Amino acid sequence: MASVRIGVAGLGYWGPNLARNFAALPGCELRWCCDGSEEALAQAALRFPGVKLAADLRPLLGDPELDAVVLATPVPTHASLAIEVLRAGKHCFVEKPLAQSAADAERAVQAAAQAGRVLMVGHLLEYHPGVQALKDLADGGELGEIYYVYGNRLNLGKLRADENALWSLGAHDVSVLLLLAGEEPVEAVAQGASYVRAGVEDVVFCLLRFPSGLLAHLHLSWLDPHKERRFTVVGSRQMATFDDMALEGKVTVYDKGFDEDARGYGEYITRSGAIFSPRLPNVEPLRLECEHFIDSIRNGRPPRSDGASGVRVVRVLEALQRSLDARTHEVARG
Ligand SMILES: NC(=O)c1ccc[n+]([C@@H]2O[C@H](COP(=O)([O-])OP(=O)(O)OC[C@H]3O[C@@H](n4cnc5c(N)ncnc54)[C@H](O)[C@@H]3O)[C@@H](O)[C@H]2O)c1
Repeated sequence: MASVRIGVAGLGYWGPNLARNFAALPGCELRWCCDGSEEALAQAALRFPGVKLAADLRPLLGDPELDAVVLATPVPTHASLAIEVLRAGKHCFVEKPLAQSAADAERAVQAAAQAGRVLMVGHLLEYHPGVQALKDLADGGELGEIYYVYGNRLNLGKLRADENALWSLGAHDVSVLLLLAGEEPVEAVAQGASYVRAGVEDVVFCLLRFPSGLLAHLHLSWLDPHKERRFTVVGSRQMATFDDMALEGKVTVYDKGFDEDARGYGEYITRSGAIFSPRLPNVEPLRLECEHFIDSIRNGRPPRSDGASGVRVVRVLEALQRSLDARTHEVARG
C-alpha cells in the first residue's frame, strides 16, 4: 500500500511534535515541513533529513503527490488555511480549535464536504486512553447517571497573545465534556480576568448546564502555582477521576456516594467502598491521534474529532466568550 504523504505547516512549539509522530508512523511519509521562520526550517532540516522545506503553503498545495497537510499554525490562521488546503484537494488536520468563530468553522466543514476530503481537528484528549476509559465507564453505566463534571487545567504555562486561556486550554476540556455528555449545553457562563497581558484572560472559570441536568465547571489558567490536568466525574452510582499528571492510576474509580437507608424513610447512609484504577495502554496519545488521521484517509471514514465536532466545540467556546465579555454581575453592598 502506498504511503500517505504528509506536509506539516507551523513548526513553532507544537508542530515539531506532530512532524515527529507522522515521520515515525509506518505507512506515512513526512514529505514537507513549512514555516515562515528560517530558524524553524533549519531545525526541521536537521531533525528530518531529506524533508522538503517551504516558507509558505504554495509549494505544498502545488505538489500533486502530497496527500495531506497538517496545520499547527497560530489559531487566527486555522480556518482560512484549512479551507485553502481542502480546496487544493488535500486532506487536512488542523490543530485545535478549528476556528475563532462557529461561522468560520462551518465554512471549513463545507470546504471539506465539497472537496470530499478528510477534515480532522487536533482534539488530542479524545485520543487519550484515559479519556477513552472515562467514556467507557460513563457509557457502560458504571457511574450511574452523571450528575456533574469538573475540570482543572492549571499551570504556570505559556503566556499567549493571540488566544486567551479559554480558547487555548478550554478547547481541550470542552471537547472532552461534549464527548462524555453526548449532548450540547443549553447554558454557558464564564468569568475571568487578564492579570498579565491586557485583554487576554489568563484565568477563566466556566459553568455549563446540559439538557439532561448535567452540570460542568472548568477552571482554566496559565497563571497558577499548581500543574493540574484533571477531570472529576460524579455519578449517581460511582465517581471517577482522570488525572493526566499521575504517573500511575491516571483513571481512578471510587465506589462512593449515598445509599438510601432501608430502615428509615428518607434517610441516607454514606457509601465509601472500593477504589480501583483500570490498566491503560502506555501509548503516546499524540501517536494515536496521528494514526487515526492516517486511518481516516485510508478508510474514508470520518475521524472521531471531525469538522462537525470541531464546530460544536467552537460554538461552546464562543458562547463562553460572549459571557466572559459581558461582565455584568454586580454585588450589592450592605
Ligand atoms: N494539542 C495540543 O496539546 C497543543 C499544544 C500546544 C499547541 N497546540 C496548538 O498548536 C497550534 C500552534 O501552537 P504553538 O504553540 O506551536 O504556536 P507557535 O506560535 O509556537 O508556532 C506557530 C508557528 O506557525 C508559524 N506560522 C505562522 N503562520 C504560518 C503560515 N501561514 N504558514 C506556515 N507557518 C506559519 C510560525 O512561524 C510559528 O513557527 C495552535 O493551534 C495551538 O492551539 C496544541
